[in-house]
Amino acid sequence: MSHGRAGAIMVWWRTPLPAWWTRPITTTAPRLVTSLHVTSKGAHYFEERPGAAARPGTVDVVLPDLHLRLATDSGVFSPNRLDPGTRVLLESVPPPPQEGDLLDLGCGYGPVALTMASRAPEATVWAVDVNRRSVELCERNAQAAGLYKVRSVHVDDVPPGVRFSEIWSNPAIRIGKPALHSMLTRWLDRLAPGGAAYLVVQKHLGSDSLQRWLGDHGWATTRVASRSAYRVLRVAARASTTQVSVDDVSPGGGATNDEER
Ligand SMILES: C[S@@+](CC[C@H](N)C(=O)[O-])C[C@H]1O[C@@H](n2cnc3c(N)ncnc32)[C@H](O)[C@@H]1O
Repeated sequence: MSHGRAGAIMVWWRTPLPAWWTRPITTTAPRLVTSLHVTSKGAHYFEERPGAAARPGTVDVVLPDLHLRLATDSGVFSPNRLDPGTRVLLESVPPPPQEGDLLDLGCGYGPVALTMASRAPEATVWAVDVNRRSVELCERNAQAAGLYKVRSVHVDDVPPGVRFSEIWSNPAIRIGKPALHSMLTRWLDRLAPGGAAYLVVQKHLGSDSLQRWLGDHGWATTRVASRSAYRVLRVAARASTTQVSVDDVSPGGGATNDEER
């Protein structure tokens, strides 16, 4: 009986080997078919009106000084967990100014804006995004947390006269360099004199070259934290002589500055 089985094995070995058997084994892991910046339907989280079916969830934002449970949904950035870059930002920034207008640029469902508002309860925190589902979630989350000085609005709905004493942002690097530069120009030039922005950027997504680009365009930029492949940049308001007029800024995207990083 065992002889019969061995015979069968011999016969199997004598048949031509399939091509996949003789092909060299590669050590490269298969590519993931989805990534964090693409939603399940292949749409981007920075679409104005995400088409993905609703999939409500919650994310617990647990920081040394606060705990927020925030509602999330499909079609927004990082709906299943606090993004690690956002965590680095929130654990690295100094306390925000306690009054005036502050900005979270690209608010998503609101972890940055609501942390800012919790740390500066007297200030008005503007939470802006191009993604309307994000804006709605951020608004709901602010109301639920009793943070009534958060203003969650579409990027084009901030009154033109508002100037920010501080900006915090995990900016949407994936929109591409020209759009990123336009967006940053649009909002950094709305910093009040003496104001500053804190941006978290992943090193492999170009934090060093972004720092150079900012410096080259008049925004004195320093690296204030570096952790887990993320850099937190402090960007000082540039001199008013080099500022772009708010009128030069196109809706949704910003000034028409298409220089490469
Ligand atoms: C990296 S996510 C950060 C979201 C949220 N702050 C967080 O930390 O979870 C960047 C956000 O910027 C938004 N965004 C993309 N383009 C934008 C633009 N031109 N102006 C404002 N927000 C934009 C995206 O929709 C997205 O919600």
